[in-house]
Amino acid sequence: MGRGVGIMRFLLVGNGAREHAIAEAICRNNSVSLFAFMNAKNPGIAKLCEKTGGKFEIGNICDGAAIVNFAVANSISLSFSSPDATLQAGVSDALIAKGIPCASPTKSASRVEWDKSFARNLMKKYAIGGSPKFGVFKGADEAAKFIDSLKGEAAVKPSGLTGGKGVKVVGVQLKDAEEAKEYAREILQSNMGGLKELVIEEKLIGEEFTLQAFCDGKTLIPMLLVQDHKLAFENETGPNTGGMGSYSDANHLLPFISQEEYDFAVSIMQQTILALSSESSSFTGVLYGQFIATKEGIKVIEFNARFGDPEAMNALALLEADLYSVMESMAKGTLADTPISFAKKATVCKYLVPKSYPGKSEENEEIKINGEALAKSNAKIYYSSVYEKEGKIYTQKSRSIGVLGIAGSISEAERISEDGCTSISGVLRHRRDIGTKALINRKIERMNKIRS
Ligand code: AMP
Ligand code: GLY
Repeated sequence: MGRGVGIMRFLLVGNGAREHAIAEAICRNNSVSLFAFMNAKNPGIAKLCEKTGGKFEIGNICDGAAIVNFAVANSISLSFSSPDATLQAGVSDALIAKGIPCASPTKSASRVEWDKSFARNLMKKYAIGGSPKFGVFKGADEAAKFIDSLKGEAAVKPSGLTGGKGVKVVGVQLKDAEEAKEYAREILQSNMGGLKELVIEEKLIGEEFTLQAFCDGKTLIPMLLVQDHKLAFENETGPNTGGMGSYSDANHLLPFISQEEYDFAVSIMQQTILALSSESSSFTGVLYGQFIATKEGIKVIEFNARFGDPEAMNALALLEADLYSVMESMAKGTLADTPISFAKKATVCKYLVPKSYPGKSEENEEIKINGEALAKSNAKIYYSSVYEKEGKIYTQKSRSIGVLGIAGSISEAERISEDGCTSISGVLRHRRDIGTKALINRKIERMNKIRS
């Protein structure tokens, strides 16, 4: 099919690797022209816009009015606002108000992500399983008392958005109960997350996993399971990051998660979208459940109102359905009639990040890609926090490039991703251990020990 008569005009808001993966999947339908509104020129997305007869604009991706103007000027037929900050800023609401079909959640529906206390209270109100002991606090003294009641075994979280870096856990980033209390005070004093509130939870111990699902307010269609690696350094050490890399298995489960556990996680997400509908915050878009398998079963760490980054790469690369049609059915509420399947393959995605990330990253450093070596590796790359100038690519503050391997097994996919990483040079590093047999075996053993 050529691009001409009957072309659909899709608007994507955002410019990370996750959005590059969305753009790539959307453009597999060759009746779609891609339009993108970005903070900075993502070279991969820009190329897809040009190739499909679309266009991009650089601006503030949280500026609903500017995005609506761009959408109207380009007769957009369907839109999707992807990053968390744009959802909280009400970009979907602005598009919907102008009559532009939109497949991403409204500000009120995405509250399940940008307000952690709302999410926990919603689960409590609707008796949804999988919640740990928790408390919501506006004062440091009450917070300290609750930390004591948990015998110091606590996770301390600002209620609002912090780019995935605001949560600290005793025994990981916090030494003991005293440090937890100090951090709680700091969150309130500096109003970290912007909601003048914090959530303290019982510390959960186990392996985490991600379940993403397409939702249209009523129907929820789950994707495959993915495990991300939030900690900065090899062997699961260092500070939290946005995610250093992720893998998925050919059977769509994880080596330490059973079908029953997967089904339980799906049912929690289903109950959550029903609860949101009952609260008049009907959820359209991609719901992301961050779960943890513990001794007491599957628990919810948090919900996000978007694809995960890097988890979007793992799932979308295997999506067999046409993403444009899936997005359209989310916007229209007809997801139940849309067949969706994923290829039975394994994936491994490793993030190349500036050497000092998540500390003060090396910015404006050139990244060189050996095209021949990359092609030979069979890895796919997704641009993230980079920009293009005069044909060269440079780092920005955050994660630079996601490198994805797809194969019949996790270890083959790991090899492909690792080979892909070595074809890219710069002031960069990545976690070599992600997706390796050694690390996965350690996770399986750890879960066996926790469960026994
Ligand atoms: P979040 O921003 O809520 O995804 O939290 C970031 C990370 O903090 C999670 O991926 C977990 O590793 C950790 N975390 C969050 N909540 C808890 C908890 N209740 N117990 C243990 N770890 C947690
Ligand atoms: N990979 C974690 C996230 O997208 O929140």
